[in-house]
Amino acid sequence: MVVHIVTGAIPSEIGNLQSIEIFNIVFNNFIGPIPFEIFNISTVQVISMVCNNFSGHLPSNVGFFLPNLQQLFLWENQLSGTIPNSISNALQLTLLNLSNNSFSGLIPKALEFNFFSSLSNLTYLKQLDLSSNLLNNILFDSIGYLPTSLEELYIDHCNIKGSIPRDIGNLSNLMTLSLRFNELFGPIPTTVGRLHKLQALRVDNNKLEGLIPFDLCHLESLVELYLGYNELFGPISACVNNLISLRYLYLHFNKLTSTIPLSLWRS
Ligand SMILES: *[C@@H]1O[C@H](CO)[C@@H](O)[C@H](O)[C@H]1NC(C)=O
Ligand SMILES: *[C@@H]1O[C@H](CO)[C@@H](O)[C@H](O)[C@H]1NC(C)=O
Ligand SMILES: *[C@@H]1O[C@H](CO)[C@@H](O)[C@H](O)[C@H]1NC(C)=O
Repeated sequence: MVVHIVTGAIPSEIGNLQSIEIFNIVFNNFIGPIPFEIFNISTVQVISMVCNNFSGHLPSNVGFFLPNLQQLFLWENQLSGTIPNSISNALQLTLLNLSNNSFSGLIPKALEFNFFSSLSNLTYLKQLDLSSNLLNNILFDSIGYLPTSLEELYIDHCNIKGSIPRDIGNLSNLMTLSLRFNELFGPIPTTVGRLHKLQALRVDNNKLEGLIPFDLCHLESLVELYLGYNELFGPISACVNNLISLRYLYLHFNKLTSTIPLSLWRS
């Protein structure tokens, strides 16, 4: 059964509809909390409440009763609180988008909670978008524990602090890595050069330092390279010539010294 509610409130009796597969109420003006009952419908495959005005938090057991959930889209609401790691029990999850909400630091660092590693069992997960939330308590070091199935990762505008760990190179199916507008520091790890499927590397507007790693020249599929507004220095290697797919190169506002290799303009 497919349900499209166009207007009105969502009654908690929604939970009685125990055969819903697709629950789609995008672009409405629903307010108040999301009735938790929706997360108890075991048949549901898609929950999409994008662009509403829901507030409140998600239930701490959010993933426990959703064995068939493949897509959870809650972007553009006013949801707050922590993102429950119980979401990792929804083992069929493929697309998870919680961007543009008011979710806060996942859990205080003091609790040694590790959100990314809790998602490692989601072996179908392809897209994760947490952008535009205040995730300054996220334990960013563990990002390499995300499942290797991941193809698109967006954590833009989240106030995350930390350096990009070498383990990022383990996410071998990544096509988009977007970490724009955060407070990342330290070097771009050379292991990024192992992400051979990468088409977009967006790490601009951080505090990244050091040289642009030579290893980036291994990324033959790269179309977008956004490095602007960081503290990168040194020369730009002539090997950028290898980036045959490159279309967007942003290097502005760094401390780079040499000119862009002439070879780049060859094609
Ligand atoms: C969801 O189901 C569990 C187990 O059956 C139950 O304990 C819980 O109260 C239910 N929650 C809601 C909001 O219906
Ligand atoms: C959403 O709700 C807030 C109050 O919680 C209100 O100020 C705002 O205008 C609402 N936005 C829309 C698009 O209805
Ligand atoms: C990443 O891969 C390396 C080499 O295979 C391995 O030693 C390391 O434990 C992996 N890291 C994670 C977070 O899985």
